[in-house]
Amino acid sequence: MTVSPPTGATAHGLLAGLDEIRGVGRDARRGGYSRHAWQPAELELRDWFVERAVRQGLDVDVDRNGNIWAWWGARGDNAVVTGSHLDSVPGGGAYDGPLGVVSALDAIARLQATGFVPTRPCAILVFAEEEGSRFGIACLGSRLMTGAIDPDRARALTDSDGISLAEAVSNAGIDASSLGEDAAALARIGVFVELHVEQGRGLIDLASPVAVASSILAHGRWKLLFTGEGNHAGATRMQDRRDPMVAAARSIVEIRDAAAASEGLRATIGRIDAVPGGTNVISSTVSTWLDARAVTDAETSALVADITARVTDAAAAEGCGVVIAQESWSGSVSFDPALRDRLVGALSGTSGPSGTGGPSGTLPIPVLPTGAGHDAGVLASRVPTAMVFVRNPTGVSHSPQEFASLDDCLEGVVALERVLRDLL
Ligand code: GLV
Ligand code: MN
Ligand code: MN
Repeated sequence: MTVSPPTGATAHGLLAGLDEIRGVGRDARRGGYSRHAWQPAELELRDWFVERAVRQGLDVDVDRNGNIWAWWGARGDNAVVTGSHLDSVPGGGAYDGPLGVVSALDAIARLQATGFVPTRPCAILVFAEEEGSRFGIACLGSRLMTGAIDPDRARALTDSDGISLAEAVSNAGIDASSLGEDAAALARIGVFVELHVEQGRGLIDLASPVAVASSILAHGRWKLLFTGEGNHAGATRMQDRRDPMVAAARSIVEIRDAAAASEGLRATIGRIDAVPGGTNVISSTVSTWLDARAVTDAETSALVADITARVTDAAAAEGCGVVIAQESWSGSVSFDPALRDRLVGALSGTSGPSGTGGPSGTLPIPVLPTGAGHDAGVLASRVPTAMVFVRNPTGVSHSPQEFASLDDCLEGVVALERVLRDLL
């Protein structure tokens, strides 16, 4: 990893930022990137960000919850804050998170290069553990800051090696006893704008490289623990088995069917863990993790109630038990309408570098909902927040196939610069 001097947000500047971190956290087994919170790849990215920000003349500090702030000019309350995260899902893409961080550095470099003088404080904020890939709860940095998670519960979360969050942050030099609601940090945020790669097909058919966010689906995570009878794969007759793997398999199909029954529902089992996990062993327990989402909180709760009934029946049909425990919950988010409209106004009729529409063209700026969770969504209950999306031509995210063209990324930087100029 190398760090280039700030370039004032040319194509070269943006490309350099993404290129500098392209080799960090590559996952040879899964493909893509595995940059998990407080582990070497993510720590290397945090160091990269600090060095990059300092070279650009920004003042860096780390808050009580491990979130990194880089101030342009004097620190202060009611600041215009932009940023995203540097961690990834297992085998994730290059853009989810880092694009918002690199674009924030570049947008500020553009403002610096033109001699723009902000009339209020301005900072880049890099949130810790957005994906929840290591400790299970997404958006930990913003949840802790806003008091949306009890700090004792957070400290006790463990990763797959049994290392607690408290140990992980302590090893990285953060005082674990200080984790928790941070009113002083929140007071510094007058408004938060997160630029992010679009994660579905939202912009593919629209003639705009960027959009402004309207809302986020309600979503949550649940752990499903299936219990049966561990036994011998050869010695146990089929009719004598209580196999939790079969109960889980039946349940996974039921979960898909429950969500497929109505438009707008989403339910996913993306992880499964069999104990003891031997080829010639009938499992004694099987754990799976459910991610369920819908437009409203009530629809999400109804979906999970339906899933609970279906899964309970599926387990019983195999002579197994199942315990369902909620791990996290994020209510639906409607982004601040006045701020959203202000972004749309600031982006309409602006001039970007590539002439492909959106900020470069005369077409209206699309306003899109998203099914993905974000720190901007967690902050939305406390401060006005907004998001800018950059077109993803693959329509795929949380995968190495996630993509954004350089031209569209540059449109995103121009859009973010325009928004910051308007808010500052
Ligand atoms: C994070 O990207 C999520 O939507 O879970
Ligand atoms: Mn993500
Ligand atoms: Mn993200």
